Amino acid sequence: MKNNDIKADFPFFEHNKSSVYLDSASTSQKPRCVMDALTDFYNRSNANISRGEYAFSDEATRMFENARAKIAAYFGTDASSLAFTLNATDSLNIAAETLGRAATVGKNVVISPLEHNSSLLPWMRIRKESGAELRFIPLSDGVADLDGAEALIDDNTTAAVFTAASNVSGYRAPLKTVCRIFSERGVPLIIDATQAATHEKINASELEFEYMCASAHKIYGPMGVGVIIAGNERAKNRVRARLGGGTVEKAGVFGYDIKENFSRVEAGTQNVAGIIAFGAAIDYLDSHNISELWKRERRLAEKLRAFLFDIGAKLAPCGDDPMPLVSFDPVFIHPLDAAHLLSLNGICVRSGRHCAHAAHDMLGFESTLRVSLGIYNDDDDVDAFICAMKEIKGRYGNARKQ
Ligand code: ALA
Repeated sequence: MKNNDIKADFPFFEHNKSSVYLDSASTSQKPRCVMDALTDFYNRSNANISRGEYAFSDEATRMFENARAKIAAYFGTDASSLAFTLNATDSLNIAAETLGRAATVGKNVVISPLEHNSSLLPWMRIRKESGAELRFIPLSDGVADLDGAEALIDDNTTAAVFTAASNVSGYRAPLKTVCRIFSERGVPLIIDATQAATHEKINASELEFEYMCASAHKIYGPMGVGVIIAGNERAKNRVRARLGGGTVEKAGVFGYDIKENFSRVEAGTQNVAGIIAFGAAIDYLDSHNISELWKRERRLAEKLRAFLFDIGAKLAPCGDDPMPLVSFDPVFIHPLDAAHLLSLNGICVRSGRHCAHAAHDMLGFESTLRVSLGIYNDDDDVDAFICAMKEIKGRYGNARKQ
């Protein structure tokens, strides 16, 4: 595959020829078909769904449900098990609010040590409000200790939370094993698939879990759309609904009767155009040999890791076969200064704690510089980064006082 076969589908690169985008873990660029789906919907078909007797509303409803079916298939689940939210953070909050109702003094929740703030902070609030204990799974050289995880579970464990892939280190959890450990002990598990779902096929039908959460904007779709997937009937039935339009069978001065189906978390007018455009992003991925593109991302990440290792950077440990992202401390310069100097060369990377403060603490880093890849990145991008880093090291090799 030629370098630019994919890039040409992403207008961002046409408009920003002198930029090198290496921050896809933060948000991915979007293929043209996603923007077309957004504007086509608003230009030609705009109407609210499930609320009108006229043809436009019917057609919008059909397009919306068609997108739901495609997106569900991407995650290996069925449409009735997938509901839309604002983003992965919203999904993770809904999952925590649902399972957190069982948290009380004496109960505990087992949580992986590499969680993003979106999956950790809701549980910290639950801990504060309920008195339940949060038990962190031990980490060994960046890898979650699954024997240690098993040892934390007891009869009072009410929930578990595990990120499928860390947005800091790229560590990829062995999801089948993780799911088995918790399901064998009857512990409902929340999986944060936000990073992982961008770089590998997650087949929900092969996994035992309670809720899985992800976001459209990291999977080449638009911002403002998240998904929550129920792993079983119990998860569908007990999800804590958002209250408002579209979530009740009937309502009146007597009170209200909540809808039976899982989509009762979809309160109010949805991001209909965004969800239809997310469906277009899934079509785009399906029309490519996606596993080859994913392989290329990982090859490029290995090239980056080898270079960074050679220049003496301190890499966040990530275990075997990580996601295509690398977080590191350059050592010779502060990560924030390096990010600024890279930006002067048109190179976009993320620096700081990447909304994963506890994960940084657990990994022993104050802050890092993160380079993350998407399906459009190529050797030219990685070479540009390498060249810029060499230049920065040449010029500022002693910038950081130890
Ligand atoms: N959570 C996103 C990141 O890792 C925004 O950058």
